[in-house]
Amino acid sequence: MILPSSVKIVEVGPRDGLQNEKQIVPTEIKIELINRLADAGVRVIEATSFVSPKWVPQMGDNAAVLQGIKKQSATVYPVLTPNLQGFDTAVQAGATEVAIFGAASESFSRKNINCSIAESLKRFEPVVSAASALEIKVRGYVSCVVGCPYEGAIDPQKTAEVAKTLYDMGCYEVSLGDTIGVGNPASISRMIEACAKQVPIEKLAGHYHDTYGMAIANIYASLQLGMAVFDSSIAGLGGCPYAKGLPAMWRLRMLFYLLHGLGIETGINLTTLAGIGDWISSTINRPNGAKAGRALCAGSEV
Ligand code: HMG
Ligand code: MG
Repeated sequence: MILPSSVKIVEVGPRDGLQNEKQIVPTEIKIELINRLADAGVRVIEATSFVSPKWVPQMGDNAAVLQGIKKQSATVYPVLTPNLQGFDTAVQAGATEVAIFGAASESFSRKNINCSIAESLKRFEPVVSAASALEIKVRGYVSCVVGCPYEGAIDPQKTAEVAKTLYDMGCYEVSLGDTIGVGNPASISRMIEACAKQVPIEKLAGHYHDTYGMAIANIYASLQLGMAVFDSSIAGLGGCPYAKGLPAMWRLRMLFYLLHGLGIETGINLTTLAGIGDWISSTINRPNGAKAGRALCAGSEV
């Protein structure tokens, strides 16, 4: 078994982690979270999303967050842009990398972005063209890669088809979202194998929510298949507001604990991260969902 020697981590806590919080988190706390993560050595931090504030009020301060960050040259701060309107606003606010987000489930696509899968892919094309003209990198997401809260199990071929379309459109990386955390190492492996026939494995990322505690096992299964990019969320915050009320409390700074244990390079200081997880959890009055973070804050050995 050959595991990757280094792994790229995309920290999505400030976006995926906070978007599902009912209480509006003050803009300055969001900015401080992002700054602290960058100080800890996190090199990709998904900062916010330029979606409709009617749909996701928590992200309504997107421009203020993006503009308020103390930008570090070594860190990139991608943002979600569902359409050209969001892309234009993001660029005006200084975005240098964006992400478009589709789904492998028709029902989820309609609930989340109010259009069919085919319509969403058409809607993304001008975003990718506009980004390309400005030399802005575009990441793609596929949601519901193994299961959907409305349709149940999803055919791996459907996920692979959407991943391929996003990749062929110009996304430099496609993140595979187990949006409601129903995957297990068997279903995740089947799905990755189908996707890797269409998109090079090094261009695929794992984005695993942790509803059933399977995220860490799914990451390990993905590493064994050669995947080397994973999304993470500080203190296990996170969830999609359109994933039908499932807590989808997800993973992991446990990711870092696993990778350090396997001798895989991340460039991130685990103990500093644990402190950040503790701080954001107490600031927004939420239990720290990351088991490794709780253990480190309690002084357990690494
Ligand atoms: P819509 O209502 O169909 O949009 O929403 P529309 O084009 O018909 O426009 C309606 C109104 O929205 C107009 O305003 C537009 O200006 C406005 P009005 O004239 O009524 O005042 N509007 C916008 N405002 C701000 N920013 C925009 C924008 N676009 C239109 N970009 C839309 C379509 C996509 C905008 C909406 O459905 C939406 O915002 N959805 C976002 C849902 C979301 O953020 N979900 C969570 C992120 S995805 C996720 O978490 C999954 C992921 O983590 C991976 C995984 O776990 O699987 C990535
Ligand atoms: Mg997500």
